[in-house]
Amino acid sequence: MYKIPANTLFMGKRLIYMPECHSTNSEAQRLIQQQPQVEGTVVITDNQTAGRGQHGSIWLSEPGKNLTFSIGLKPVFLSPNFQFYLSMAVSLGLYDCLLHFLPDDTIKIKWPNDIMVNDKKICGILIENQIVNQRIDRSVVGIGLNVNQRFFPMPQATSMNLECKEVFDLNTVFSVLLEKIEARYLSLKAGELEKLKQAYEENLYWREELHEFVINHQTHQGIVKGVSEEGKLCVLLKGERKFFVFKEIRYAY
Ligand code: BTN
Repeated sequence: MYKIPANTLFMGKRLIYMPECHSTNSEAQRLIQQQPQVEGTVVITDNQTAGRGQHGSIWLSEPGKNLTFSIGLKPVFLSPNFQFYLSMAVSLGLYDCLLHFLPDDTIKIKWPNDIMVNDKKICGILIENQIVNQRIDRSVVGIGLNVNQRFFPMPQATSMNLECKEVFDLNTVFSVLLEKIEARYLSLKAGELEKLKQAYEENLYWREELHEFVINHQTHQGIVKGVSEEGKLCVLLKGERKFFVFKEIRYAY
């Protein structure tokens, strides 16, 4: 069970707890279709049995160990051309939350919106926008944050517990996370776009470091410089700045 967070204005003030469900994003979408929802409504579960990830992937989470939830938002103030700003705001909310709990500066945002700690993925974000009349009418923001899980089927995953050997109270982490996401969302709503982009770029994974990338099945060395307003990754390749959408570039490990 989760408590309604005390320190938010609207984020999570309506809280729908489901002991088990297929996907909180799918549940939140279903609720929106049934009736208009209050902004900030959260659907949260202890056991997500068919979690959805980005680009058709699946999201696995050990029951009762992590946070798996979705927030219904109405960013009608945002034109679809600027939808990446919502992604930046949510990523920064997660980043701020992890800074609150984890002791060091090893937290990074991996473009487009994975959160990394010590080069391992700790959190995934799945944002599904519905566009009506050139505005983002509704958005379901799904978050999977690994909190207390200790064993993962894939080596490139981590959790808060693995990073600092502490067992966290899920409700406390959930409350702080909603506060931090709300603060960044309100900043977005107030039109502080440059501030958000700057903060996102400052904490970008591999920024200003020389690394290998796979582009068109070939490995290239490049330096991450930042992102464009539409959410393309800017990489310096042989002295030239190039912009890539998600499918065009892969981080090589
Ligand atoms: C990713 O692929 O990195 C995004 C993963 C997003 C997972 C979360 S868990 C809560 C919400 N419900 C889902 O089905 N997916 C998101």
